[in-house]
This record gives sequence, C-alpha cells and structure tokens, in this order.
Amino acid sequence: MISQSHDNDIEEKSVDTATGEAAPADISETRVKSVFSEIATQYEKFNHVSSFGRDRVWLDRLVELAPVDSKTRMLDVAGGTGEVTFRMCAEKAPESILLTDYTPAMLEVAKKRIDRGDAKGTPVLTKVVDAQDMALADDSFDVVTMAYGIRNMPKRMQALKEILRVLRPGGTAVILEFSTPKNPIVRFFYHGYLRWGIPAWGQHFTGHRDDFVYLAKSIRAFPDQEHFCEMLRTAGFTNVEYHNVTFGVAALYRAQKPVTE
Ligand SMILES: C[S@@+](CC[C@H](N)C(=O)[O-])C[C@H]1O[C@@H](n2cnc3c(N)ncnc32)[C@H](O)[C@@H]1O
Repeated sequence: MISQSHDNDIEEKSVDTATGEAAPADISETRVKSVFSEIATQYEKFNHVSSFGRDRVWLDRLVELAPVDSKTRMLDVAGGTGEVTFRMCAEKAPESILLTDYTPAMLEVAKKRIDRGDAKGTPVLTKVVDAQDMALADDSFDVVTMAYGIRNMPKRMQALKEILRVLRPGGTAVILEFSTPKNPIVRFFYHGYLRWGIPAWGQHFTGHRDDFVYLAKSIRAFPDQEHFCEMLRTAGFTNVEYHNVTFGVAALYRAQKPVTE
C-alpha cells in the first residue's frame, strides 16, 4: 500500500488543492474558478486527447456503476460541461438530471449542448452551485455523480457531507477521480506525464500552461484509493467500494447513504 499522510483534522477543515496542505479555502476556490473559466471551451477536447481516449472508457464505467433507470432523480455535482450528464442521458435516460457546477463558464458550454439536443429528451436543468454548501433540499436525489470534482475542492469533507445530505436514504453516490497507480513503474511514468505531458497539452489547446501545472499538481496531491474510501466512511457513507481503471490512474468510488442515519 502506498503511504500518504492522513490528517483527519486537516480534512475536516480545508486544504490547498495543489498541495494537500492545510490552507484557507479561498486560495483554492479563487484559483479553480479562474482555471475553469479560462479553459471551459477547450476542456472536453483537452480531456480526450490528453487521456489518449481513456476518458470515454472511464465515463462508460461510471455510467455502468450508477444505479440509474427511468425513475431516477439524478444530481451531477461539479458537472462542468456535462460529460457525465449527457452520457447518462444517452445510456440510461433518467427521470431528470440537475447539472450543477461552481463555474458559470463551464455550465454555458453545457447549455449549448442541451440546445444541440445532447440531453436526448431527458429533462436537464443547470444551476450554479458550490458543492461545499449546496442550496438543495435534504434527501432529494436517488443518485449523485461527481467526476474529477472533489480534487478541486478545498473543503472536501464538507462536500462529501453535502452529497450525503441531499441523497435520499439508500441513495448512491458514484465518484470518478484521478488516483494513484499501485505499480511503481506505472506510477513513475504517470507522474512524469503529469509533470511534463499535461502542461504541454494544456499549452497546446488553451495557451494557459499554468492552469495545467495546477491540475497536474492537484492530481499528485489527491489521496489514494484507500484513503479516499476512508474519507467517504468518515463522511457517513456505507457500502463504500472502489474500482480502479487503467492501472489505477483513475478510480471509481461507489457509496450509499445509510437507510437509517
Ligand atoms: C475537471 S472539471 C470536471 C467536469 C465534469 N464533471 C467532467 O467530468 O468533465 C472540474 C469541475 O469542478 C468544478 N468545481 C470545482 N470546485 C467546485 C465546487 N466547490 N463546487 C462545484 N463545482 C466545483 C469546476 O468548476 C469544474 O467544472
């Protein structure tokens, strides 16, 4: 097992998402809004090319793991341009999806996709929401998804508790996040790619190299699979499990809100 420093006290407060060290939340919140406002229109293209197409495979796995059918009220947290939302619409046609994000520029791209018909008949509403403090009712969703969102949030425990709060008892959260490959050789090449490859692709697609230096740093600083499962349990989730994809470069987490809290 890869050892990473666990500091439950820090996790209950806030971290600098670039380093994982304790820091006031506004440092990360201001930076994340600026990063995603700058790259919003090129975000999907960058993701696809820089992951060598693996993003689609990981997304399909998320959709497969999510217990969604035609009666599901779904919330997509940090949903950005709507990659998870629109794939879910195409594959499982839920009753409705509330697509939320902190950065209006990302949701603007999603709204254009709704206009283009990407929701395929599923009612999709968009709303600017801070995942760490959601103005949404308790127990109001059957399934909550979040892809590559939690890593960018300084108050992670608070965000997980918010997801738990808005899920109905017995509801399911499915979270996709970059992670830590166990194999040291894979890890060595992956961390090299994060350090040099990701900023180079970012410069190519958006001209904002520094934004991608941040994104790569935030991936290296994010807790490994076991540690994040522990955070989900601490937040109050039950039946927590994870599934590695592509040698653990990313992982999918599935967890439930207890039927009785
Ligand atoms: C890497 S993007 C992922 C977007 C989308 N889920 C996807 O799979 O493509 C991360 C998103 O997290 C959003 N985000 C960061 N902090 C947030 C917060 N506190 N509340 C809600 N969204 C947040 C950013 O605005 C950005 O759109």
